[in-house]
Amino acid sequence: MNRVWWKEGIAYQIYVRSFKDTNGDGIGDLKGIIEKLDYLKYLGVNIIYLNPINKSPNDDNGYDISDYYDIMDEFGTIDDFKLLIEEMHKRDMKLIMDLVINHTSDEHPWFVESRKSKDNPYRDYYIWHPGKDGNPPNNWGSFFGGSAWEYDEQTGEYYLHLFSKKMPDLNWRNENVRNEIIKMIQFWIDMGVDGFRFDAINHLEKDFNFPDAEVKEGQIYGDFIKYVQNLPKVHDYIKEIRRRAFNTGHHVLIGETGGISYHNAYLYTGVDREELDMTFHFDMHSVGKGEKDWERRKIDLVKEIKEKMSGWQMRDEKEGWCPIFFSNHDSTRTVSRLGNDEKYHRESAKMLATLQLTQKGTPFIYYGDEIGMTNAWDFELEDYRDVAVFNKYRDFVESGLVSHENYIKGLHLTSRDNARTPMQWDDSKNAGFSEATPWIRVNSNYKDINVKAQMQDENSILNYYRRLIELRKNNLTLVYGDFIEINREHEEIYSYIRKGEDDAFLVIVNFFDGTPTFNLPEDVKIKEAELVLSNYKCDDKNVDGITLKPYEARIYKCKL
Ligand code: GLC
Ligand code: CA
Repeated sequence: MNRVWWKEGIAYQIYVRSFKDTNGDGIGDLKGIIEKLDYLKYLGVNIIYLNPINKSPNDDNGYDISDYYDIMDEFGTIDDFKLLIEEMHKRDMKLIMDLVINHTSDEHPWFVESRKSKDNPYRDYYIWHPGKDGNPPNNWGSFFGGSAWEYDEQTGEYYLHLFSKKMPDLNWRNENVRNEIIKMIQFWIDMGVDGFRFDAINHLEKDFNFPDAEVKEGQIYGDFIKYVQNLPKVHDYIKEIRRRAFNTGHHVLIGETGGISYHNAYLYTGVDREELDMTFHFDMHSVGKGEKDWERRKIDLVKEIKEKMSGWQMRDEKEGWCPIFFSNHDSTRTVSRLGNDEKYHRESAKMLATLQLTQKGTPFIYYGDEIGMTNAWDFELEDYRDVAVFNKYRDFVESGLVSHENYIKGLHLTSRDNARTPMQWDDSKNAGFSEATPWIRVNSNYKDINVKAQMQDENSILNYYRRLIELRKNNLTLVYGDFIEINREHEEIYSYIRKGEDDAFLVIVNFFDGTPTFNLPEDVKIKEAELVLSNYKCDDKNVDGITLKPYEARIYKCKL
């Protein structure tokens, strides 16, 4: 067994803006994280992944960087960052930083120069085009709404931005760009950062013929993804970064790769490809979403959950490792999307946690999921902060394609802001997140759902997470053991065995609110089984023929 820190660790993702504000400006900051490190230690996590913290005008909350070598004013200073790393390393925690290198802010000095004139030395750092007969070069639409091209008066040309117009895409074909980025990565490595999450990494290369894309029904812009995602040259760029910036073997490299599934992830994570160690996928992103944003559909456990989650773990080890996560800052709240955040809030949140902490991969717990934070079901348009919400409002509501009511209903189910509300620390004003009015509204359920209350409650979601984390840390079988799925075709129960050299775990969860019966398949023989954790009080010694309660989850330690 080749033991590796980032395989054994338990990661926790922090959306810094929303975690803890210490200077009363309503925005979370680095000092806030330092203040809460002991809480994270108490929870048991030992890797922290931070969303972007570099200097930024915050058009997209830090994903638009204007200085790669400095910290965002609202978050603190380089000294705060040094202190954070020091305090983390003291507690045996590792830090993963977000690296946004597909684009910069339009306020980055490179872009400020680039737009000045066609022969500026920085012109080719970005992607410029004269356009076609006074129109944009093609019909590509930005992911955040509107055209992917912005006309710039100074030189009469268009620049490409896959995201907002304040986020121009870098031109990775330019060697100077690559050199600058690698130099910058080295700066953060020297600071002591242990790993990186490469934002939107599979967009680094574009089709420079810029062909028009097919426009689908109900869409305004062309479906251009195949011209800007997962193109062959992306791999050359990643290999170059790895070879030139990472040579000690210590760091973990994680890519965010839309459009990649467990079938082809080896292209990025295959051990002999020398690119990334794991990739964040979008498998869980739209689970349960209906045809329209404002519609919901029952989850298909076999096709949407088991096939995908199990698929990653059953790959050949040579294809690479994977993260296990349900939510992040681009999705919605785990218990609201995949569980039942009303009648079975506690049970379903614990059931999902059971899956996350007993599968093969590195668990990434999204801040607030450990207390079962939910979507913001009562937000109105003015409560949202995401730039995409307003761009798409223009595209869809103002153009008459979608009604205002349906759009808002859709936001309740799909907006990224659902997962960005302030951390609910206690039941005091602003949920203990800040003295001042927070940058985004606190979820109105904070008096019922908060850390303080759950610390005091033996049966809370928080305490269940702590036990799960403890169990995983004490049993390498849960990290490295084989993943053997059983009863794949069962439509309500997800069950599997994690098999180590001398022991094994049997995990059984009821994914819905029914009361199905679990039967061991004939070919699985269990000699001894001890129930080690469950989300219901349970003294049942059986492992076969058991009728499960709604969202019941059980973990048995066994001998096979
Ligand atoms: C990634 C990030 C997302 C951001 C986008 C642009 O998808 O996760 O939050 O908006 O890239 O950087
Ligand atoms: Ca602050």
